Amino acid sequence: MQAVEIRKDIYWVGAIDWSMRSFHGYETSRGSSYNAYLILDEKITLIDTVKEPFKEELLERIASVIDPAKIDYIVSSHVEPDHSGAIPFMMQHCPNAKIITSLPNGLKGLKAHYGELPYIGVKAGDTLSIGQRTLQFIPTPMLHWPDSMVTYCPEETILFSNDAFGQHLASGCRYDDDNDLPTLFFEAKKYYANILMLYGRQAQAALKALHDLDISMIATGHGLIWRSHVKEILRLYQEWSTGKLEDRAVVVFDTMWHSTEMMARAITEAFQQKGIPAIFYDVKENALSDILTEILTSKYLAVGSPTINNQMMPTIASFLCYLKGLAPKGRKAFAFGSYGWGGQSIGLVEEELKAAGCEIVLEKQRQANVPSAEDLQKLTAAVQAICK
Ligand code: FEO
Repeated sequence: MQAVEIRKDIYWVGAIDWSMRSFHGYETSRGSSYNAYLILDEKITLIDTVKEPFKEELLERIASVIDPAKIDYIVSSHVEPDHSGAIPFMMQHCPNAKIITSLPNGLKGLKAHYGELPYIGVKAGDTLSIGQRTLQFIPTPMLHWPDSMVTYCPEETILFSNDAFGQHLASGCRYDDDNDLPTLFFEAKKYYANILMLYGRQAQAALKALHDLDISMIATGHGLIWRSHVKEILRLYQEWSTGKLEDRAVVVFDTMWHSTEMMARAITEAFQQKGIPAIFYDVKENALSDILTEILTSKYLAVGSPTINNQMMPTIASFLCYLKGLAPKGRKAFAFGSYGWGGQSIGLVEEELKAAGCEIVLEKQRQANVPSAEDLQKLTAAVQAICK
């Protein structure tokens, strides 16, 4: 396996995970990559490693350019093992290398994972001269772990961004402009929604820290390198992190005997008749990570569940748990569902929507047994009344 030169004497030496379909629950239908970068200068520097099972691929790509034993520094941007997992292996092959990590959390995390190794801790504003080039370390705490940092090389105007601006997307090409752009932007949005949505405030702080940098290339930790669409991805992060919403609706439901599904269809149609694009998600048939991608930029959210054993359906409970964790702010939401007796699920869904930070804009829509045509007309009118 070969390294890919992305700038003179700077190489991509990562690994492509074509087959991964779940990243701890995040459905990765297009696989991913673990990007590492090798800089050949007076001090030879490796930025990040890869997930442990891909360590031989990393080593082989490095060895296609230099003897790995010549590496002087390994920059660990982030302790999560998809980037740091091959550090112990690399240290066997780079006996003179020192590991650069953020203070205090990177150091603490790496020690907890890999024990005592030759670490050098860095903090905001620290720089490292590696010869013709300088590396500037910029902490990006909680984007998305406490230790996260990015590295900027001013002589090359390259930002090594680790998780930020990444995508779970396996590709034989390395750059944004080599790939289908709608797919790339969808995967970048999906990544933000499922990994970073909770940390909008921290993303804003990171964007502020990067604001004055001249960036011609963003060398991400996953997926493709941004070189032709740097401004667009920075603008999108600005919009996503400030919670900019579009007039779109997401309808999520599960159903037992199709009554709640009939309500979901009527609600979807009601939005669409008002010119608000609405997406209909039977939660059993869709990945939560895809649903959250749509919620990231949608103003409206309707969630429905019939009542089973005095509860909501477990599938909807799982969705709401995931939603609550990612904490989207300010969606205009309501609960709906059918029931035979009791009907507790609809109130329970509403409570969870409130707990997730949604604004309840419509009284919960409870339907006994099967909705009639008249019931569905009333539901349509109620939904359309909240569309502004
Ligand atoms: Fe790609 Fe948070 O590791």
